[in-house]
Amino acid sequence: MRDLACYNVADLRERARRRLPLGIWEYLERGVEDEAGMARNRAAFEAVTFRPRVLRGVHTVDPSTELFGRPIPFPLALAPTGAAGLMWHNGDFALARAAAAARVPFTISSASTMDLEQIAEAGGRLWFQLYLWEDRALSHAVVDRAAALGCEALFVTLDLPVPPNREYIHRNGFGTPFRLNARNALDVALHPRWLLGTMGRYMLGGGIPTQANLPDRLRSKVTRAAMPGALFKQDDLDWDGVRALRDRWPGKFVLKGILHPDDARRALELGADGVVVSNHGGRALDSSVASISALPEIVAAVGGKMTVLLDSGVRRGSDVIKAVALGADAVLAGRAPLYGLAAAGEAGVARSIELLRSETVRTMAMLGARSVAEVRALAPG
Ligand code: GLV
Repeated sequence: MRDLACYNVADLRERARRRLPLGIWEYLERGVEDEAGMARNRAAFEAVTFRPRVLRGVHTVDPSTELFGRPIPFPLALAPTGAAGLMWHNGDFALARAAAAARVPFTISSASTMDLEQIAEAGGRLWFQLYLWEDRALSHAVVDRAAALGCEALFVTLDLPVPPNREYIHRNGFGTPFRLNARNALDVALHPRWLLGTMGRYMLGGGIPTQANLPDRLRSKVTRAAMPGALFKQDDLDWDGVRALRDRWPGKFVLKGILHPDDARRALELGADGVVVSNHGGRALDSSVASISALPEIVAAVGGKMTVLLDSGVRRGSDVIKAVALGADAVLAGRAPLYGLAAAGEAGVARSIELLRSETVRTMAMLGARSVAEVRALAPG
């Protein structure tokens, strides 16, 4: 990947932007409404600063830590991200393979375009993210499949009770279902590497990807409207519904999209093993507080009693360290590995993880922190 001259996540992002047709690029990159939430996520990370300590013998720095009682090489896991299969041929599998090779946990998305069983063939440490389908029996069946596969944790995403307002979709012509029309046909034609390397490989193989994880009778191609019951629907989900999932799931149970300390306390009472402090990368409510700003209060409420993860806006190893210094056990990275995926497939994902890891180590050395425990002892400011 060095020959690709990608020296940070922003370089991978730029390659991804050039390779993808506009509609798929915008799905990856954009937020909602005025995209103030995405900007706020970055501004809040940038506002966190450190007072580095000097002369602390940082020739060996160990960024490893533990999550759910098991070791990870540095405080990062891959977030669940939908539509990876439209960014690269069998993109979900490429993400999982790169994560497994780096020994980083990978979260399978319930909006994947491959079945979870196919993705799990990549090996590695797997978690499963759930959106509930309108047909709840179907949702429970998918949860049971994830348990049967040995997924270590179930992440239930709670911050999209209703569909988000992604206005750009109406303009770029890449709606769901995806249909070729006058607006997007030219754009697709202008991105031949994607057309041949991604769509072309699907056409030669099994055909257009489907909304995966569904039984055959509900499956439809991404170019067709979803069958009744096969759409995600969570506007009626409540704490009792989440408790039913907790009771069903044998492994670690995590609530994703928590920004209020009272909800974090409630998650703890319910028997959750963790929360993800997240505003969905600025893709849900545009006026949400930045996750990194919400983190300290949530850590004060439940830190030490349950695992606290953070996502939304992580683009640098220094962001990983900021989150850890403010009390997170680890971060989830979503767009950063997807930029790598869209730029260069599995090798691009591997590059993205490696960049974040090496930046994490360098940041620790600069701060005088030789271990994650020493990062936690640092007070940002
Ligand atoms: C789905 O979770 C999305 O953010 O598109």
